[in-house]
Amino acid sequence: MDNIIQINNEGEHAYDIIFSDSFNLLKSELEKFNIEKKRICIVTDSNVASLYANEIKSLVDMICKQCIVVQFNAGELSKRQETVNKIYEVLVKKKFDRKDILIALGGGVVGDITGFVAATYMRGIDYVQVPTTLLSQVDSSIGGKTGIDFKDHKNIIGAFKMPKLVYINLNTLKTLPEREFNAGMGEVIKYGLIMAEDFYEYLNKNIAKIRSRDLETLSNVVYMCCRLKKVIVEDDPYEKNVRKILNFGHTFGHAIEKCKGFEYLHGECVSLGIVAASYISYKIKQIDSDTFNSIKNTLASYGLPIAVSGIKANDILREILNDKKMHSGYITFIVLKHIGKVNFYKVNFHNMPEDEKELLINAIETITIENPQ
Ligand code: GLY
Repeated sequence: MDNIIQINNEGEHAYDIIFSDSFNLLKSELEKFNIEKKRICIVTDSNVASLYANEIKSLVDMICKQCIVVQFNAGELSKRQETVNKIYEVLVKKKFDRKDILIALGGGVVGDITGFVAATYMRGIDYVQVPTTLLSQVDSSIGGKTGIDFKDHKNIIGAFKMPKLVYINLNTLKTLPEREFNAGMGEVIKYGLIMAEDFYEYLNKNIAKIRSRDLETLSNVVYMCCRLKKVIVEDDPYEKNVRKILNFGHTFGHAIEKCKGFEYLHGECVSLGIVAASYISYKIKQIDSDTFNSIKNTLASYGLPIAVSGIKANDILREILNDKKMHSGYITFIVLKHIGKVNFYKVNFHNMPEDEKELLINAIETITIENPQ
């Protein structure tokens, strides 16, 4: 495995993803941005601050003009304008200007918020992603999607803003709580299903090693996901077409996240969404029942939920329709053509034929089977 992947944007080098088993190389990577004259703000959350903020601050303190740390409460409920405002306040108070840099130290929520602040503070300031969760290392730190939730809508306010660097210390995965680690596997399995059958097989063959967090196997997994994501974001950086396939399982997943009041982690909801989307693939005769069952088994083998209790199928459907109302008259579900390849399945929801509505309800019921109606 190389320890670097270069990401290009419109044919030009945009940023590197660095893979390491420590934070030691971060100093020399940051020095490439002439940071001796810059201020650095490390943005992190209450879970990650006590683990790594001091270590990063000591590294950075030596090489920049000033380094400060801002932290907020961990969790999706912090992904809101109020948190962004608190960070703006600190930046203004400490006189940060356009030459300075933010470091997002943490998981997906930290990366999304920090990226959004970076996209908007003084019309744009550089930022570096230092993802510490599996989900953020394989997905959210790459590709420049930033954003926050607003009212009932997830990720509805945001901007594309490419980081200057993504620095992955694989050893941070060792301190991840098991539930968080498993949730990250939801996104990992998604890559195999939508893009790479051989990778999906690798995941099925190495369950014990991956779940015991064998560093070499995990390095292969994270590296492979980043290679796959590189292909997509270089081809379609602003999600006009092919990048949409990364949303496999997310239409159902986001609706479940909301219906459960964010009690389930994003990756857990993606797992449930993958089951529902795979059910559609099976029912429209793209994949067979053995493949559908094997997908459920793989997700369950990684400790991911494949069914959820306490929500009604109709509530999830209503949530999906609400969410999509603003986009157009259609919902496009990403479904599987076979393992390693996807298709689009478009539903006109203003005028939804009864059989399509039944298919969606059945797909949702597949994951709400424990639900006392
Ligand atoms: N997380 C999906 C994307 O980056 O497009």
